[in-house]
Amino acid sequence: MARKKTLTKPVALSRVFMTELVLPNDTNQLGNLLGGRLMHWIDIAAAIAAQRHSGCVCVTASVDKLNFHLPIRLGDVVTLQASVNRAFRTSMEVGVLVTSQNIGRDKAERANNAYLTFVAVDSEGSPVPVPGVRPESPDEQRRFDEALIRRQQRLTLRGS
Ligand SMILES: CC(C)(COP(=O)(O)OP(=O)(O)OC[C@H]1O[C@@H](n2cnc3c(N)ncnc32)[C@H](O)[C@@H]1OP(=O)(O)O)[C@@H](O)C(=O)NCCC(=O)NCCS
Repeated sequence: MARKKTLTKPVALSRVFMTELVLPNDTNQLGNLLGGRLMHWIDIAAAIAAQRHSGCVCVTASVDKLNFHLPIRLGDVVTLQASVNRAFRTSMEVGVLVTSQNIGRDKAERANNAYLTFVAVDSEGSPVPVPGVRPESPDEQRRFDEALIRRQQRLTLRGS
């Protein structure tokens, strides 16, 4: 009898590129982007990636430690790149890379990166199984491998 194949989807299928312009309402009194606004954009980009991968509504289960490496200024263009690094049973780790660019500068700078865990849910909010992730490049494979280590650390922290 033919063995049943486990469904996997390539990382590329979940990839999200989101671009935002930092406007006055996004900033503090010094003209720097508010951390909370950036966290909102990260959550949205990651949620879309998780939903593209799973084909389901997904909820944020947790966000790993978030570091802000450099101030993002009023007028900067912020780009968020998100994709599912690895899927487990009903949860997925999504990685988000944030870069910012001032229109006067030629190079975008890495401002932030984040790992979030999303859970696919049904209409009652109960977790549902998701397809696996198929890494197709060395970088995708590295993120896939590292995602398992991070999951084990999260589970250890939750249990303690
Ligand atoms: C996330 C949620 C659906 C998990 O439901 P649950 O009944 O606890 O489900 P389970 O214990 O069976 O866990 C389901 C999966 O979520 C993962 N999970 C649950 N809580 C987690 C957390 N804090 N961090 C990482 N993963 C988590 C589990 O590891 C499990 O993953 P797996 O199936 O891939 O092994 C539920 O806790 C929930 O709805 N939380 C609120 C989500 C929300 O409103 N988010 C927005 C916050 S403002």
